[in-house]
Amino acid sequence: MIIRKLPSENALPMDLLLSADPSEKLIKDYAKRGQCFTAEINREIAGVYILLATRPETAELVNIAVKEEMQGKGIGKQLIMHALKTAKSEGFKTIEIGTGNSSIGQLALYQKCGFRITGVDRDFFIRHYSEPIYENGIQCIDMIRLSQDL
Ligand code: COA
Repeated sequence: MIIRKLPSENALPMDLLLSADPSEKLIKDYAKRGQCFTAEINREIAGVYILLATRPETAELVNIAVKEEMQGKGIGKQLIMHALKTAKSEGFKTIEIGTGNSSIGQLALYQKCGFRITGVDRDFFIRHYSEPIYENGIQCIDMIRLSQDL
């Protein structure tokens, strides 16, 4: 598997990105402001993430996604480790990530990769998304914010 920056002339893997965030508008905005990385297996995109500079010395890992049929094989973890290394090499001191209160697997994965909860952005998904989102039988309402020092 090769993880590399998506060349600027290449189209975004929008279907995959939409599995992490249902808002195409937000994705396009993040992609324009950040760097998009892809994990490729036999030249096919299996995973993606966007690294975004948010504040001085702080980056955020947004829109991480792995193709459904490739999930549970460690690709997500490798993408996160790649993002940590990339952000550190670019001089960032802190990396952040956010996920929904209903995203149980993602909360497990991020904590296994060293992230710790720093706060809750209450009602984030009510304010920013017009359709209600449900996962694991739980309504996604609040964004759980996590971070780690690099
Ligand atoms: N309880 C405990 N651990 C859990 C879990 C749960 N319910 N669900 C997942 N995990 C753990 C697994 O055990 C595994 O850890 P391990 O390596 O110690 O066994 C880890 O989380 C999953 O790792 P990995 O296989 O690397 O993840 P992945 O390749 O399936 O990618 C996502 C993870 C989140 C990127 C992928 O599921 C995805 O694309 N989801 C849809 C898009 C999305 O929700 N993106 C995030 C938006 S915030």
